[in-house]
Amino acid sequence: MSNLRTTPLLELKNISKSFGRVHSLRGINMDVRPGEVLGLLGDNGAGKSTLIKVFAGVHQPTGGQILWNGEQTILDTPRAAMAKGISVVYQDLGIIPLLSIYRNFFLGREEDVSVKLPGFMYLKKREMRETARKALSQLGIHITDVDLTVARLSGGERQSIAIARAVHFQSKLLILDEPTAALSLKETAKVLSYVREAKRQGVGVVLITHNIAHAYEVCDRFTVLYHGRVAETTERENVTEQELANLINTGTRASQKLAV
Ligand SMILES: Nc1ncnc2c1ncn2[C@@H]1O[C@H](COP(=O)(O)OP(=O)(O)O)[C@@H](O)[C@H]1O
Ligand SMILES: [Mg+2]
Repeated sequence: MSNLRTTPLLELKNISKSFGRVHSLRGINMDVRPGEVLGLLGDNGAGKSTLIKVFAGVHQPTGGQILWNGEQTILDTPRAAMAKGISVVYQDLGIIPLLSIYRNFFLGREEDVSVKLPGFMYLKKREMRETARKALSQLGIHITDVDLTVARLSGGERQSIAIARAVHFQSKLLILDEPTAALSLKETAKVLSYVREAKRQGVGVVLITHNIAHAYEVCDRFTVLYHGRVAETTERENVTEQELANLINTGTRASQKLAV
């Protein structure tokens, strides 16, 4: 169950985004609450990626308002979004295969785990290894050798490192773009369990997926986009998988689009 009474972490009011004459988002209203998994569904071209780029500070909306913890805010750069605790895990993004697991874990945050001497920077590697190992195991990922390069890991393990990293560094809102797209069944189950664990730790999660069954398994609510608009936002209890499929395909719960 999502917590209906808490202030949403993120709230969008009437958000629109146009690229010239292409109106990708038209008056989007939605919210994400702490400790819930919100499934963001929609067919190709529905506007999902454009919308998460608005959350991530990549795109500036053409109109509308963004509220963070109930206060109006401007996410004008990815850095501004990150500073608020918004993390986006794009497919295969933010992981360098030829670096070790623990180096990937601290990627971009090396200054926080280093000692600076004149003309020299020394990484506290023992501490980095230990922290990475602990953070992974807190999410249920048991990798003893964090010196392994990420290239040696499976797709699901890579995804798990990105999720563990976001949780460890206090992300409040975690956005996962198609995390199970290239995974086996077994790996998918694991990644979905990491999503549940992030939720249990109070993180708000936005899960984008084409796979309705995966979404249905793990999401508390759904927001379905259809041609740049919200077709419907609903709690899982109040919708079936078939109705979700219909919403994605036709914008309504009915299976056939009505002739106009
Ligand atoms: N940078 C851009 N310039 C022009 N049109 C874009 C741009 N990004 C997305 N669009 C258009 O916006 C619409 C929504 O795309 P997108 O957000 O990628 O959908 P989804 O992720 O749901 O498949 C599409 O019509 C797409 O062509
Ligand atoms: Mg997309």
